[in-house]
Amino acid sequence: MGDEITVNGDRFELFLTEEKIRARTKELAQRISTDYEGMVPIFIGILNGSVIFFSDLIREVSIECEVDFLKLSSYGDAKISSGNVRMLKELNCPVTDHHIIVVEDIVDSGLSIDFIKKLILQQYPKSFRVVTLLYKKEAAKVIVPLDYVGFEIPNRFVIGYGLDYAHKMRNLKSIYALREHRGTGSA
Ligand code: IMP
Ligand code: MG
Repeated sequence: MGDEITVNGDRFELFLTEEKIRARTKELAQRISTDYEGMVPIFIGILNGSVIFFSDLIREVSIECEVDFLKLSSYGDAKISSGNVRMLKELNCPVTDHHIIVVEDIVDSGLSIDFIKKLILQQYPKSFRVVTLLYKKEAAKVIVPLDYVGFEIPNRFVIGYGLDYAHKMRNLKSIYALREHRGTGSA
């Protein structure tokens, strides 16, 4: 895959290589393994976007852990967060008295993670933390503390490594960002 790709007529440029993502994921997993030594946290992946990061992350974790998944819907086919969060798959794990680590692909407006946090805290976990691969700090509408952040990124639409554009492109190995329009050009 080259440094530039076109999806639905939109041009995207290479933003984070798979090597960079792998190295950072390993660092986060090592920190989590140290912080949770002697505990058995439950990693909760947020479907669909976090699946790739989730599976790479937990395989670098060296402590015992459990996994579960939660599915929300907020974007539809759009490139801008609607903030309209709905639950499509509930948790099937015991939350009460367990150490919960939510795994997100990206925190944009913060509305999804805010919703998830409130939902999980209602069930009294022993502890609650969030790990996200990407954080669009400038896009935040609600501030939810993020305990482990892979990369803080500018407010650009990104795809690949689990992140979709109209349900596609999740299988790209690297992350690509939508190119900014420069001037009016000739087209
Ligand atoms: P938030 O509720 O606005 O924080 O958005 C969270 C969810 O929106 C993430 O879990 C992603 O699935 C999706 N999302 C946010 N930004 C992007 C992006 O740039 N590309 C693809 N999906 C995104
Ligand atoms: Mg998504």
